Amino acid sequence: MKQIVLVALFAVMMSGCQTRPQDDLFESLGGMTGIENIVDDFLVRLGSDPRISNHFVDADPQRLREKLVEQFCAESGGGCEYTGDSMKDSHAGMGITRTDFNALVEDLVAAMEAQNVSVSAQNRLLKKLAPMNRDIVE
Ligand code: HEM
Repeated sequence: MKQIVLVALFAVMMSGCQTRPQDDLFESLGGMTGIENIVDDFLVRLGSDPRISNHFVDADPQRLREKLVEQFCAESGGGCEYTGDSMKDSHAGMGITRTDFNALVEDLVAAMEAQNVSVSAQNRLLKKLAPMNRDIVE
């Protein structure tokens, strides 16, 4: 009997300790619709950013949108599969500098801001993308 009471007590205590899923970033970004809106806004900013828009002149906007949505969804734990090229292959030979990279990050932050994404969620997505600079910056 004492054992049953202890087990029950333990169960009650543990239920109080339940935490949110470890990575709820996908939800914090607004789910799939939120990510699509972020990417749409981001692409407009990239195309009109005089610091880096030249890089995107010959890009295929439809493909870029699709791959970025997949990538942000996958990276944020939304369960998508990223089917695009590797970061190394897709940016090879573009001569992307650290300054270009930082400009793109600024545009992404502005897009997330415009979609009312919390600063904490912004930082969590950036933390996942930042290490990619090794494969993108030449
Ligand atoms: C964390 C930073 C970045 C991420 C996560 C990222 C992500 C991506 C993704 C997912 C694609 C699509 C790959 C595919 O088509 O399979 C792509 C393509 C591209 N990225 Fe980035 N990128 C980043 C930084 C940059 C920077 C700094 C530039 C230039 C300033 C840039 C320029 C491009 C261009 C021009 C394409 C299109 C290539 C094409 O359509 O032929 N990217 N990027």
